[in-house]
Amino acid sequence: MNYPVKTSILSTHPDDITRAADILCAGGLVAFPTETVYGLGADAQNDAAVGAIFTAKNRPANNPLIVHVKDIGDACAFAQFDKVAMALASAFWPGALSLVLPVRESGLSGLVTAGLDTVAIRVPSDKTAQTVLAAFAAVRGGSVGIAAPSANPSGRISPTIAAHVIAGLDGRIDAVIDGGGCAVGLESTILYPRADGSVEVLRAGGISAEAIAEIIGVMPIMGGSSVSPILSPILSPGQLAVHYAPKTALAMGVLSPRADQLYLTFGGGESGESGDLNLSPSGDLTEAAHNLFDYLHRLDSQALALGKTIAVAPIPNHGLGVGINDRLRRASASD
Ligand code: TXA
Ligand code: MG
Repeated sequence: MNYPVKTSILSTHPDDITRAADILCAGGLVAFPTETVYGLGADAQNDAAVGAIFTAKNRPANNPLIVHVKDIGDACAFAQFDKVAMALASAFWPGALSLVLPVRESGLSGLVTAGLDTVAIRVPSDKTAQTVLAAFAAVRGGSVGIAAPSANPSGRISPTIAAHVIAGLDGRIDAVIDGGGCAVGLESTILYPRADGSVEVLRAGGISAEAIAEIIGVMPIMGGSSVSPILSPILSPGQLAVHYAPKTALAMGVLSPRADQLYLTFGGGESGESGDLNLSPSGDLTEAAHNLFDYLHRLDSQALALGKTIAVAPIPNHGLGVGINDRLRRASASD
């Protein structure tokens, strides 16, 4: 692909979805909404197309991608499921769960897995994502996968509306489908079902550890280098300390912001401390997850314009709060 390209903004009209499928078939890059965040899609079985994702995002080549499929049947063409994996897929798909499973010989580009013998895979529930997958399957035929990382420049805040995608990647991708806001707003929870039957959380996200425990009978093991020394950096390269970074500095757990800080609060009721933006006045973590990235995008541009930084109030560390705190920690790590 030559840069710069003209990025088309497509609608969810069937003609535009067909156009998006044609672009994918031709090896192009199309950003599309999912229920978690916008993904930057390419044909997962086309090396050049997958390579173009890494170029457009400026993403390190050792950071593998999630393959999006339309149903469990197509997932089985790309990955091997054991009993635990199948139970998790049946419980949470379509939805905000990615499973890291042994990869099958299936024509997947080696760039998708970054040479690992596992693949991260998920079935999105978002209606637009599902129509794109169906249209792509119709034109390409067979089992199809769309490799899609979050549609942001590598290391930056994930996009939850089409305007965020354009702000980060305009002129570097062929098209973005504007399907409105993302329902969940936080990336998928990534699980690694281990050979011994236990399940490890490689990335906290849109499905809580408590919900996973209801399916597997025990709390999953929280991954990350501190608690999981067996996880090599290559197994979970996206878990880099610096990630999801705003352009301005961000401080967490702040109870009283300074005058030079924009304040992102949580809870307190409609009449409570509202700060500059409140993730959820009623203290609802699902609502907070939904608002998180959009509010960070907004505060980031305001802070840049005003020469200020961002301070965030403490967020409870249970349910979706675990994923929210994970993203804030990475946003606050300085690069
Ligand atoms: O909600 C989501 O998961 C969104 C939407 C678009 O589906 N996608 C997303 O992709 O967040 P990305 O590339 O931003 O994050 C994918 C994460 C990375 O941290 C990557 O290292 C990890 O998944 N990953 C991918 N394949 C893996 C594998 N085989 N083993 C371990 N981690 C893997
Ligand atoms: Mg990402």
